[in-house]
Amino acid sequence: MKLIVVKDSEQGGKEAYQIFAEALKNGATVFGLATGSTPLTTYQKLVASKLDFSDAISINLDEYVGLKPDNPQSYQYFMQEHLFKSKPFKRSYLPQGDAKDAAQEVKRYDRVIAENPIDLQLLGIGRNGHIGFNEPGSDFTSATHKVALTPSTIAANARFFKNKDEVPRYAYSMGIGTILKSKKIILEAFGAAKAAAVAAMIEGPVTPACPASALQKHADVVAIVDEAAAAKL
Ligand code: GLP
Repeated sequence: MKLIVVKDSEQGGKEAYQIFAEALKNGATVFGLATGSTPLTTYQKLVASKLDFSDAISINLDEYVGLKPDNPQSYQYFMQEHLFKSKPFKRSYLPQGDAKDAAQEVKRYDRVIAENPIDLQLLGIGRNGHIGFNEPGSDFTSATHKVALTPSTIAANARFFKNKDEVPRYAYSMGIGTILKSKKIILEAFGAAKAAAVAAMIEGPVTPACPASALQKHADVVAIVDEAAAAKL
């Protein structure tokens, strides 16, 4: 895993932006995208740039179960606001939070990924080491699936909702197996709250107890980490 330590998330966004620009120049057409506060500086750089994604495809990592796409807390809405309305892609895929049939929805999403193999996947990391919504204990070979969120993730994500009771208890997420199939992966982590997860991801054993440690098995991962998140390395 290549490690880039930056001063702050602003610098981190610039580094990630450069990798996006390079990938696009080299013919990448499918971009795996993430939500949360972490990728925001990257999206700001993409929005401010001249890069053109109108021939490219985006595939997001995850979505809350039960939220309609127009719900302001949905990841669909987040992506629209922070990236797609300014930088449209030819096609953008997310799991459909309000799908009627969960089993069908995860199959549909895996078909989308199989038909559009991901060239560059952007990831954040949860405080407990989760990637996408693959919580500790997740199988490293998993495909897209419905996940029960852990109390720690529900508490961490409650800041985006009016109160904790409004945070959905389930999500659809690409699996770790799916994520590992991406040709290249960028993982961003900013802030002291991520320091323990970053240390476990990079220096800890490869174990489902830290889902992000699975990235040690991938040949082309760039971790972009600010000084606070690198403090325990
Ligand atoms: C959520 C998302 C993850 C994200 C994580 C960290 O759980 N499903 O993809 O990496 O939160 O969020 P943040 O970047 O806001 O710290």
